[in-house]
Amino acid sequence: MTLAIRRLGRGDAADFQTLRLEGFRLHEREFRFAPEDEAHLTTEEVAARLARDFVVGAFDGETLVGVAGLAGVAGTKTKHKALLWGMYLRERYRGEGVADALMAALLDHGRGTYEIVTLTVMRDNGRALRFYERWGFTIYGVEPASVKTAEGLYLDEALMALRLT
Ligand SMILES: CC(C)(COP(=O)(O)OP(=O)(O)OC[C@H]1O[C@@H](n2cnc3c(N)ncnc32)[C@H](O)[C@@H]1OP(=O)(O)O)[C@@H](O)C(=O)NCCC(=O)NCCS
Repeated sequence: MTLAIRRLGRGDAADFQTLRLEGFRLHEREFRFAPEDEAHLTTEEVAARLARDFVVGAFDGETLVGVAGLAGVAGTKTKHKALLWGMYLRERYRGEGVADALMAALLDHGRGTYEIVTLTVMRDNGRALRFYERWGFTIYGVEPASVKTAEGLYLDEALMALRLT
């Protein structure tokens, strides 16, 4: 499969928002956000986020099928760190190295600017955990009952970090 990976800009806001909300809707147990948390955001608000953070997308032709973002932490003493967020691939594109291409693009960008990348992942999301471990991320803590789903199910979140230096 040939997919193109590129940084998303303001003009991708509507497609990005559609894909992100799809991920929240289809993966209640994998994401810490529900669709209603972000469904109200205007295209301009989403565009501002794409302009601020480094967000990459995987395209099958013109269609956005995968996304992942890197956000620098603000602050004089914390600006050596970045948070990896929103990793999502449409199901039919998984298991083929597309997630690797998204991660490689994020880390290539991050290496010039940050020393540490952190992320959170649900403790029972084995596929994502294995993916992050394959890239060298290690678990440094677990937040018990970090998330409570609509059905009242409590989920623990693993806190992971990768040193870029
Ligand atoms: C998390 C996510 C982005 C990872 O992408 P993925 O394509 O599923 O993950 P991988 O690249 O690790 O591929 C999955 C499997 O295919 C294998 N694989 C990857 N690239 C491959 C390739 N080119 N050829 C053959 N096999 C390959 C991997 O080894 C892996 O096997 P494993 O699970 O036995 O270790 C994706 O599963 C997803 O969007 N999940 C739903 C949302 C989610 O959980 N997001 C993370 C929130 S923190």
